[in-house]
Amino acid sequence: MSLKALVIYFSPGGNTRKVAEAIVRGLERGGAQVTLLPLAEAEDQDYEGYDLVCLGAPSYHFNVPEPVLRYTKSRLSREREKVRLGAPTVPGRWAVVFVTYAGPHTGIDEATPAGDHMAQMFRHLGFEVRGIWYAVGEFHDDRSAENNLYGWLGDIRGRPNEHDLGVIESNAAGLAFVLDHLKRARTS
Ligand SMILES: Cc1cc2nc3c(=O)[nH]c(=O)nc-3n(C[C@H](O)[C@H](O)[C@H](O)COP(=O)(O)O)c2cc1C
Repeated sequence: MSLKALVIYFSPGGNTRKVAEAIVRGLERGGAQVTLLPLAEAEDQDYEGYDLVCLGAPSYHFNVPEPVLRYTKSRLSREREKVRLGAPTVPGRWAVVFVTYAGPHTGIDEATPAGDHMAQMFRHLGFEVRGIWYAVGEFHDDRSAENNLYGWLGDIRGRPNEHDLGVIESNAAGLAFVLDHLKRARTS
């Protein structure tokens, strides 16, 4: 049976959606069967039945945006019976977290709290987190033109670009290949 993956994203401006779609392409290339959902349609989505769950968001004010915070809180309270002291990992439950960020002031350090937050949700639920993936994403509004040119990371116009998305896609393809192998080893 092929690897089943669920990819959930929050993306008001579209950058994180592009990364989510690159992940889908990569996972499918690696043989997985993938469901892609925006966060607004994922509130009641069960994780059961999926080998891999991916959750992505932009960094807002160097953290997860409010809707994502509400989502992680409600998910933990809804699945509170799965939250165990010592966080034992449930075999065959894998997660990946992805974050887009512009990093105008301190670079990737502005994105890691968001990545860590989402990863913590999965770890509390017994998932093995196989990666926290970061991609640079330009600001969209005109007032941010300066931020897209003269921030910590320099010129980030047009990002995530083809190269950024290609890296994410091949990471996802590699991951699907490995997890498929692990799944088959577990179930044979
Ligand atoms: C309200 C708001 C706050 C943001 N705060 C940060 C921040 O603190 N650090 C950062 O690196 N990027 C910040 N950004 C930039 C976004 O994280 C980045 O452009 C992201 O790729 C947007 O994703 P989206 O297009 O999927 O919405 C912010 C963007 C917005 C709109």
